Amino acid sequence: NRRVTVRDIALAKERGERWPMLTAYDAMTASVFDEAGIPVLLVGDSAGNCHLGYDTTVPVTLDQMVMLTAAVVRGTSRAMVVADLPFGSYQEGPVQALRSSMRLIKESGATAVKLEGGERSHEQIKLLVDSGIPVMAHIGLTPQSVNAMGYRVQGRGEEAAQQLLRDAKAVQDAGAFAVVLELVPRELAAEVTNTLHIPTVGIGAGPECDAQVLVWTDMMGLTPGRVPKFVKQYADVRRVMGDAAKAYAEEVVGGTFPLEEHSVH
Ligand code: KIV
Ligand code: NA
Repeated sequence: NRRVTVRDIALAKERGERWPMLTAYDAMTASVFDEAGIPVLLVGDSAGNCHLGYDTTVPVTLDQMVMLTAAVVRGTSRAMVVADLPFGSYQEGPVQALRSSMRLIKESGATAVKLEGGERSHEQIKLLVDSGIPVMAHIGLTPQSVNAMGYRVQGRGEEAAQQLLRDAKAVQDAGAFAVVLELVPRELAAEVTNTLHIPTVGIGAGPECDAQVLVWTDMMGLTPGRVPKFVKQYADVRRVMGDAAKAYAEEVVGGTFPLEEHSVH
């Protein structure tokens, strides 16, 4: 009953086995996914939007990621826990990336870290991997750059496609054990997947990727309002919780909860 390792992930690609990843931001939710057999959990900086109430991932701090990641590790025993390096915690260079990653590994117990950027993050990835920290890369749409590039499909057109392929090869050459492809045309994601020997983890990148990831609040219907086209909704958690809250409120107001059976003497 050991945790999933980067070796297991490499073997899955060799064997042609697909695998699912979900985000998690707290111990209890993480324990549900762990018991359900999700092999890799991502403490995404999507916690900014999905857990902390910000509009983007940009304001999320390293201290916040350390706290959330530690909770997810405590809530799980089997899943590999990957922690996002938040915006501002690795852009200064490889040494800053190493210092930030060490906190997520040593204080939180994460197995691996994830950072955004292909060619531009090559040096950071290299130092982390040389230091013994497994790195998941993230290319295509990179939400920490929302102020520069917005939320648009990446890799459309020949020039952008070539850049995405260069980014994918750069993170593999730097030693990343997997790479997230976010909002990339299906055909291009398939080409990247066939070109690389490390697994691709798609989100809005089509079915040919080696693995898939979704934000749990999106795919379980907790996120309010519209979710991206690439999300499939597997549950209606927002309605389940809202109905429970309303039923409880009605019973308290109406005097039908608590009853004798909920009382002590
Ligand atoms: O923060 C996050 O949830 C992510 C995934 C969408 C890949 O980076
Ligand atoms: Na992220």
